[in-house]
Amino acid sequence: MSEINQARYVPTLSANDYYCSSRYSDELNAIFNKQWIYVLHASQLPDKGSFETFNIGDKPILISRGADDVIRAFYNVCVHRGHILVQGSGKATHFTCPYHAWTYHFDGRLRGAPGVANVGDLPKCNQQLVSVETKVTNGFIFVRLEPGEDDFEKNYGRFFDELRDRLPALNRLHFAKRFVAEVDGNWKIMVENYLECYHCIPTHEALSDLMCIKDYRFQQSEYYLSTWAPAGRPDNKAYTYTLNEDSQRAFSGWWLWPNTTFNIFPGQQNLLVFHMLPLSSERSIGYCDYFFIDGKVDAEAGALMEWEGNVLEKEDNDLIVSAHKGMKSNAIRNGVFVIDGVRQYLSEGPLAHFNELVQRTLDGTGPKN
Ligand code: FES
Ligand SMILES: [Fe+2]
Repeated sequence: MSEINQARYVPTLSANDYYCSSRYSDELNAIFNKQWIYVLHASQLPDKGSFETFNIGDKPILISRGADDVIRAFYNVCVHRGHILVQGSGKATHFTCPYHAWTYHFDGRLRGAPGVANVGDLPKCNQQLVSVETKVTNGFIFVRLEPGEDDFEKNYGRFFDELRDRLPALNRLHFAKRFVAEVDGNWKIMVENYLECYHCIPTHEALSDLMCIKDYRFQQSEYYLSTWAPAGRPDNKAYTYTLNEDSQRAFSGWWLWPNTTFNIFPGQQNLLVFHMLPLSSERSIGYCDYFFIDGKVDAEAGALMEWEGNVLEKEDNDLIVSAHKGMKSNAIRNGVFVIDGVRQYLSEGPLAHFNELVQRTLDGTGPKN
């Protein structure tokens, strides 16, 4: 950690660590099954009976807001014979499995199972959906598939302090819109692309006009990275915004181990939560969830989303696909991170830290506390 800003070269993980399927299984087991994984914000489950489904690696998850207003997460798996319980998202009073029509309450209890009346009590493990540990903080919902020792508050608590400081309207922000993109690239390449601004000037013309890239700064903590850059002109190549006393006058971004980022762009109070999940060793999915005050999308918010979702994300996704192809080509055994000790906008120091965290987690030595 103390070496983060020391000028040096650090080899990346081996090229085959970015596409090998057995390595991918190890990463699912050690990282996605055991770490706290961000899923969504409470405002994305607005009503009693709202639910959402998604996958963490190969694990199907269902998250819902019950009639008692409690948010719960379960494996999205029917305990009769394993059919996926529900698809997509929406609102319901109970869940019905499409296979043999077993039904479940929102607290996971079995509500009905055709034909069992003449058979007697079901085994206990077939009476209830399998629940998943859930943590809701500042409205943000995280789940952990397997119990562990990591202390969520200790690891991420200061991040939420920073976010509240930087975003006074945090409690008033509501979900507005989601962009989803699937990318032919390993999830680590996607995360690494977020963790540096070395590529910003060569590849992001509008971003480099929206913010002053050469003043980009970061602060690395063990479990999260804080980044910051002052805004450029309100009338820039990305989107135009008006300045008032509540306006954000900088870009602020945070990465949370292992796969989630929080971002505030210049202009009105806004938040973009961008999180990246693996679909396979060679394919990933990025969810961009936009939040504005009361969820209202005015012309400025619309322009921000239009540019970020359709221009910036596209530029990044093309880079990720290309880097993945190259890593798979057998041309190089590994790449190299360039760590500029002075000019942070040119430094890949946080990527070396990320690679180390991945490796230590796989080796079972875990992040340093
Ligand atoms: S598998 Fe769900 S009801 Fe049979
Ligand atoms: Fe980028």
